[in-house]
Amino acid sequence: MSSPTISFLATYHAVFDFAEVQLRNLIAAHPDRFPLYTTGGRWDLSGESWTNWCEGFLGGQLWLIYQRNQDDWWRAQAERYSRLIEHRKTDRNVHDLGFLFFSTWKRWYDLTGEAAVNQVVIEAGRTLALRFKEKGLYLRSFLADNSLFIDIMMNVGVIFYAAQQTGDADLYRVAFQHCLTTRRTLVRGDGSTAHEGIFATDTGEFLHQSTQQGWRSDSAWARGLAWALYGFSATYAFTHDARFLQTAEACANFYIEHTPEHGVPPNDWDEPSPALPYESSAAAIAASGLFDLAALTGDPARAAFYRQYAYRILATLCEDEFLAARTPGWEGILKHGIYHTKKGLGVDQSVMWGDYFFLEALSKGKTWAHK
Ligand code: GLY
Repeated sequence: MSSPTISFLATYHAVFDFAEVQLRNLIAAHPDRFPLYTTGGRWDLSGESWTNWCEGFLGGQLWLIYQRNQDDWWRAQAERYSRLIEHRKTDRNVHDLGFLFFSTWKRWYDLTGEAAVNQVVIEAGRTLALRFKEKGLYLRSFLADNSLFIDIMMNVGVIFYAAQQTGDADLYRVAFQHCLTTRRTLVRGDGSTAHEGIFATDTGEFLHQSTQQGWRSDSAWARGLAWALYGFSATYAFTHDARFLQTAEACANFYIEHTPEHGVPPNDWDEPSPALPYESSAAAIAASGLFDLAALTGDPARAAFYRQYAYRILATLCEDEFLAARTPGWEGILKHGIYHTKKGLGVDQSVMWGDYFFLEALSKGKTWAHK
């Protein structure tokens, strides 16, 4: 396994230099727009979005770029693309307000400590909590009242955060119960996860596991598991409840045991002979989550193992097969991402969240490389 050395730092800077070029071109070509994925390597504004969950990941990348270069132009762009989504703090149509506001306004607040900026994040948390179903004890997905998604584990943190900032015990209860329900119904004994859970809305009874973007109901969709690994780690950081750490570690172990040596999974581990070998965004999310998990697990040997594995994923993603730097005309940063195979959306393309979590993971890797 490669270790974080001088060569990691050189690679980190080279990737961020490349990301600056790609993002500058993107916002010049499509000002104030939020493409989700590329088609043939070019950002596609006409592509169907299925749901509006990604509008924070462009601004989020701009904040990460600013964090490295401290350049006022990038800061202005980061603020601009954050302001463009401020109205979404009251959006009740999606379950994605953590994705939208943690990547943007929370970064902004962490940098400045401005109370008005923090209020936007808190309001987003309050809005997301309105999705809670008292019968069943979960936050409903964007699809329907009876549907719970594993993805919501990446968003529930904004409710924990709002609870923490305001002292609102009911917000905390909602977030905590959602995580327990997700753990009980979507995480399996081997550490794999289902994408979706279906409930009886009249009684709250859990009926069965299901999927939208995985191969089938009982299979292991890679991105969903990466969301769980990252989301349960974050939940443990908020709650200090050991059950969530145990779940995050079970998910991490499943990922590591089932993925080829290079660290990049297919779209679904169970699909026989998948047409495409890679889902790079799941790898980027897992790398970022593993850096967090390494900092949370109390076991130094496991911490070192998770961190080394995260560096291994990043080393793979920085190879020409994945990094678009040597692919002429390609407008994204990371190739071989997959959004939705069944709908044929963003398949084997750059996807906006893949680029975001890749830069986020590299930033975390740089922090550790300095320790
Ligand atoms: N909607 C979240 C995802 O595609 O992972």
